[in-house]
Amino acid sequence: MIDLHVHILPGLDDGPAGWEGALEMARLAAADGITTVTATPHLFARRLVEMSRLNPADRILAAAAELRSRLKEAGIALEVAVGCEAPLCPEMLELLKDGRLLTVNGHGRYLFLEMPDTAIPPATEEVCFQLLSRGLTPILAHPERHPLFREKPERLIRLLHLGCLAQVTAGSITGDFGWRVSRFTRKLLQAGLVRVVASDAHDSRRRPPELSQAAARLRRWLGEAKAQALVLDNPRKILAGEPLT
Ligand SMILES: [Fe+2]
Repeated sequence: MIDLHVHILPGLDDGPAGWEGALEMARLAAADGITTVTATPHLFARRLVEMSRLNPADRILAAAAELRSRLKEAGIALEVAVGCEAPLCPEMLELLKDGRLLTVNGHGRYLFLEMPDTAIPPATEEVCFQLLSRGLTPILAHPERHPLFREKPERLIRLLHLGCLAQVTAGSITGDFGWRVSRFTRKLLQAGLVRVVASDAHDSRRRPPELSQAAARLRRWLGEAKAQALVLDNPRKILAGEPLT
């Protein structure tokens, strides 16, 4: 399996505090059957959109390079690609132009996009349209966990019609975020609106990098082929910068 959305680089956001925590997450991921993760730190430390808190691209890339070498040293078989989780903000296009938005695996084709916790701003469609018209497809990070998408699913469907993709969190499938989230997640999956399932792991205990339990449930809900598309085939195409069919 490929886990496209993981906070595994230490010292950049609310992921692991140090390298030991990062390696522990990597061990868990490998033991769970995950062969590749994309390290997707929040673009802004503490998640607030403050330019002084922006994680510079070179720092994220250097942390990923260090993780790869530490994994090799520790004998942990896990590939690490890089991206980021960008918050929807007015500065987005400027950040993209300046090369400060890390797209998935550096292809300039896919970007993890997170809504503010308590709003889906009116400019969301416009910003997504602008990104799409530059050949960059926003992957909406865990819309099932957003109360306003649950209240008004038509807002999510409009963004998907525009060309955005939806990624749901493995824990939303297994019930970690409560029954409301779980029920909504199942509806989205059964309607074929979700293209990726990822762990959105932040540590090795509370939010670990695991997909196998969610994948087992996906197989029961959707069948083998659709389950595999969500945890392997689609993530592989996204990592390669290829379009999804
Ligand atoms: Fe995340």
